[in-house]
Amino acid sequence: MEKIGWLFHGFHLLAVVIAVGGTFCLRFVVCPRLGEGESAAETRNAILKKWRPIVWAMIILITITGLANVHAAFNRVGTDFIYWCVFLVKFFAAMLLFGIALMLTLPIEGLAKVRENRDRWMRHIIEIGTVILFLSAYLRYFRVEDIAG
Ligand code: HEM
Repeated sequence: MEKIGWLFHGFHLLAVVIAVGGTFCLRFVVCPRLGEGESAAETRNAILKKWRPIVWAMIILITITGLANVHAAFNRVGTDFIYWCVFLVKFFAAMLLFGIALMLTLPIEGLAKVRENRDRWMRHIIEIGTVILFLSAYLRYFRVEDIAG
């Protein structure tokens, strides 16, 4: 497991880049160019239909590789309290992010209200994703000796 830890880490990063980067591109580059009206709504729905399976696949990949990263992190920092507190914040933020992504993409009638505010929720995905990225960078540089010494 230790020998292929870098592979899980790489796939974790790849999935995060696709999911958060893709959302950023859709929200700030593609969607604003579509305009209003029926044909714009049709194009938007066609794009989001293609995007949906990608998002779901990335959520699964991020979760599996994230758990592999947890194993590697435990071997590195052990039971360090501060590390796992920061990790818990990251984990709950990730669950919130996944929840919003699912609310936007699951074809459930009751979620139509959320989909109407798509722009706002996509912005929240990017905001939460950015916070998670910085928490992850902090965890990456975390060394037990730094606190002990
Ligand atoms: C089930 C959800 C997740 C779990 C269990 C998880 C777990 C982890 C763990 C344990 C690490 C290693 C940290 C270290 O090096 O000490 C890591 C790295 C990382 N995670 Fe996650 N993660 C999850 C979701 C996410 C999400 C949603 C994002 C981004 C929006 C993300 C972005 C990153 C990044 C960028 C790194 C690498 C940091 C670096 O190498 O500089 N993770 N993750």
